[in-house]
Amino acid sequence: MLKSRVIADRDFVIAPLDRRVFGSFVEHLGRCVYGGIYEPGHPTADANGFRGDVLALTRELGVSIVRYPGGNFVSGYDWEDGVGPKEERPVRLDLAWGSTETNQFGTNEFMDWCKAADVEPMFAVNLGTRGPAEAQNFLEYCNHPGGTYYADLRKSHGYEKPHDIKFWCLGNEMDGPWQTCAKTAQEYGRIATETAKVMRWTSDGLVLSACGSSHRDMPTYGAWEYDVLDHCFEHVDFISLHQYFENHEDDITLFLTVIDKLDRFITEVTAIADSVAAKRRSDKRIMLSVDEWNVWYRARSGEQLRGAGWPEAPKLLEEIYNFEDALIVGGALLTMMNHADRVQAACIAQLVNVIGPIMTETGGPAWRQTIFHPFAQAARFGRGNVLRAKVETGSFAAGTIEDAPLLVSTVVHNPETGTATVFALNRSTDQEMQLDVELRGMGARALVQAEELHHTDLKAINSKDAPETVAPIAHPAAELRNDCLSATLKPLSWNVFVTKAA
Ligand code: AHR
Repeated sequence: MLKSRVIADRDFVIAPLDRRVFGSFVEHLGRCVYGGIYEPGHPTADANGFRGDVLALTRELGVSIVRYPGGNFVSGYDWEDGVGPKEERPVRLDLAWGSTETNQFGTNEFMDWCKAADVEPMFAVNLGTRGPAEAQNFLEYCNHPGGTYYADLRKSHGYEKPHDIKFWCLGNEMDGPWQTCAKTAQEYGRIATETAKVMRWTSDGLVLSACGSSHRDMPTYGAWEYDVLDHCFEHVDFISLHQYFENHEDDITLFLTVIDKLDRFITEVTAIADSVAAKRRSDKRIMLSVDEWNVWYRARSGEQLRGAGWPEAPKLLEEIYNFEDALIVGGALLTMMNHADRVQAACIAQLVNVIGPIMTETGGPAWRQTIFHPFAQAARFGRGNVLRAKVETGSFAAGTIEDAPLLVSTVVHNPETGTATVFALNRSTDQEMQLDVELRGMGARALVQAEELHHTDLKAINSKDAPETVAPIAHPAAELRNDCLSATLKPLSWNVFVTKAA
């Protein structure tokens, strides 16, 4: 049996974990909005048309912040189309997804939904077909108290109080040729700077995020981050990272190394941001927002990617997740948590139906995909300080990664509640692992939660008819003795342990 040892001390803190790391994403894309969060007439829908079953699952998922309205969609979106009386809203072509957008759901509906779901909104402005002026008008509509054209327009739409939206993304994937009105780093750096300026002049206390590369393999990756930040460093708080994980080779060992590649991606972007700071002799630190991440490679071509004949809310990007995808999602979460000092926001993309942890049938039930579970556990139990633990474990090599640790783990300690949580992913494909975790200075006296996510079939999925095929169970082999947690981890398993001080 493999042996791994983790030593964690309550005083060796990386950083308090920002709740915004447990974010998600709702785009006007396929059935994410229409048939996902919004379906008037659905048996569980409330007076606003919000699906009650999806709201309940969103709360259970533990999502903290939700990005909206895109995505590629936002780069051609006129926000004015989605406010005011619904019968007067225009129907438009959505060039990003080859679909017809009815605009029956827009900014105010999303804000109402956020309240119902108890999540913070993260809005993106259109820096594709539009620019600073429209972003400023939109922000005035959302956040200004009253007495101006756009603030009073909001009031006339029934929203007396400002929405007070804090977190804003300056465009989306502006480096991508697929983006409506993509830009060079110089063009984007300039427009992001000028947009940030007018937005900050309009509303206090904003958190602004600039677009990083669309993924780590973009030809302009690295240079893009540097050039963009060289323009807007003084004006933004975050830079975004997007990464979708793929398993085209159907090789689990190789697939598991996407976790290590994400780790390198985060380290690299941090270094680039800090080199821009160094050039300025600045103490300011740009934070990282991994505001699109997930497994996505199956539903990525043809009619799964673009509607044919401009349909309304077609089935797009409806990725069906299996057990191995849940391991990847868990491992990615641990990687982001272990960079808690710099990754201070992240959005699993997306929330429902479109590459989502929640699936629905239009007019029918909603259920949890496999990837729902590690996310919900991390959001529920990952509270407090992430600790810089010493990890002793074996390693494996695959693809370009030569030293992938077999154990991926995170220890989170909450000094207020006395809770310590250990997340552990055994990446061995064939061997059990004896795990010993020393929890120093945490007074751990009781093991209050121990769960295992495992399935003998890596391709096992959850479906409408069998929604619990992949789900956590009580851990069969874990104990706590004298500040030491011991457990046997099955090969390819995701495990969560929560201890409590006396
Ligand atoms: O999440 C799906 C799409 O992936 C988003 O619209 C875009 O930003 C990314 O390319």
